[in-house]
Amino acid sequence: MHKKDMVSYGDYQRTAEWILSHTKHQPKVAIICGSGLGLLADGLQNPDSFPYSDIPGFPESTVPGHAGRLVFGELKGKTCVCMQGRFHMYEGHPLCKVTFPVRVFKLLGVETLIVTNAAGSLADSYNTGDIMIIRDHINIPGFSSISPLCGPNDERFGPRFPAMSSAYDKDLYRLALEICKSLGISHFVREGVYCMVGGPNFETIAEARLLHKLGVDAVGMSTAPEVLVANHCGMRVFGLSLITNRVVKDYEDKEAVNHEGVLGVSNMRSQTLQMLVTELVGLMDVN
Ligand code: 6GU
Repeated sequence: MHKKDMVSYGDYQRTAEWILSHTKHQPKVAIICGSGLGLLADGLQNPDSFPYSDIPGFPESTVPGHAGRLVFGELKGKTCVCMQGRFHMYEGHPLCKVTFPVRVFKLLGVETLIVTNAAGSLADSYNTGDIMIIRDHINIPGFSSISPLCGPNDERFGPRFPAMSSAYDKDLYRLALEICKSLGISHFVREGVYCMVGGPNFETIAEARLLHKLGVDAVGMSTAPEVLVANHCGMRVFGLSLITNRVVKDYEDKEAVNHEGVLGVSNMRSQTLQMLVTELVGLMDVN
């Protein structure tokens, strides 16, 4: 591992201290907004926002559809921090940078992480525009030791060998299902397994068929690293995938996915997602 690919406890502390000296908000909930889902942050009351380029230690996000700022504020009276734009492996960031904000959030007192992403569906029953509550994930890069938890372990955050058998909080996804019922959106809400691949290319047909055989319901290029680091340091995690396209699994299929299409669908559903996350934050138990 290269030295530049390592972050020390002091680095997280310095960033947390900078944030604490620039905002009065002390968030208990952090929300990571995926591609085209930045609207979530616009719902915060009394917002304080900071472009990533102003925050010491933060990398810069380079993807269209990702604004690149932290927004602090209240949602249903609960103090939250939103990442409007996340960092991806495919941008060339080491995983300790991709997940850097999560540990900073921990030091700020955050106990619950909500992750959202745009994903392609493999499950035959899913449609474009569906919202998938993430029940579990498969972290393909992790199979070859590409994990933010590789390298020296800092016990101040968590154990060397963390369990991941309840990576997504059961109470939170039960609560979310109830909320979907009361909002009348259950007909396009699913529960499933998210799979992270490195990207930036979308899948070949053979890769799509492999993922389908593995039981993957939706595939994307993010989320697993942040979820691993959040679990490692004892946070509760809730995750949502917005299904922006169906993954092509057939050589005869002429459809091809592109990033603009992904952003179009996420804009279409962003209001619904905002509603769901807002209700969830409102009803979750936060001290
Ligand atoms: Cl089809 N694949 C991947 N890897 N990520 C996606 C996607 C597909 N659609 C949205 N994000």
